[in-house]
Amino acid sequence: MSGNWLLVYMLLIWGSGFVEGLGVNWGTMATHKLPPKEVVQMLKDNGINKVKLFDADQSTMSALASSDIEVMVAIPNDQLASMGSYNRAKEWVKRNITRYNFNGGVNIKYVAVGNEPFLTSYNNSFLNTTFPALQNIQNALNEAGVGDSIKATVPLNADVYGSPKDNP
Ligand SMILES: *[C@@H]1O[C@H](CO)[C@@H](O)[C@H](O)[C@H]1NC(C)=O
Ligand SMILES: *[C@@H]1O[C@H](CO)[C@@H](O)[C@H](O)[C@H]1NC(C)=O
Ligand SMILES: *[C@@H]1O[C@H](CO)[C@@H](O)[C@H](O)[C@H]1NC(C)=O
Repeated sequence: MSGNWLLVYMLLIWGSGFVEGLGVNWGTMATHKLPPKEVVQMLKDNGINKVKLFDADQSTMSALASSDIEVMVAIPNDQLASMGSYNRAKEWVKRNITRYNFNGGVNIKYVAVGNEPFLTSYNNSFLNTTFPALQNIQNALNEAGVGDSIKATVPLNADVYGSPKDNP
């Protein structure tokens, strides 16, 4: 395929233990370079049925509406601290999740709380803010009545799987 494919740059498999389907990371670069609707069409054309976003960009979300593609939306690391406020977390869920939760809306499955916030290169700077954020977001999802179908999760980093000699 053309260079466009490079924009959706990282193939990965979601699912635990077995191959459920193909998923991709939707790099933020892609959303700037191609209209989201074209990207969504490209995903469909290639049989991609899961996509991970790095935020909850409105035009991307709108393009994904009624596509059936399973979506993981994300809260960037620099917003974790503010999610320590339950009211702020509720607002986030209302504006970024509940509004897309209708018939023909977006098939959201996960909310990624942070982007690999425990990476050693971050010097534990998100250690104190990640878990309160995770808890508040899950509670806000529950309170909004979508907690059964949408789960808050913390994307773990490659570090965690490093060999012992890398992690003294
Ligand atoms: C929606 O999510 C994005 C990405 O996490 C964030 O930047 C934005 O502030 C959120 N909107 C609200 C109203 O919380
Ligand atoms: C982590 O600590 C190192 C060494 O003190 C420093 O050079 C680096 O900028 C820090 N990184 C972050 C993200 O704070
Ligand atoms: C996290 O919290 C502990 C205990 O309150 C504190 O000692 C530490 O400095 C905090 N770490 C960061 C990175 O804010």
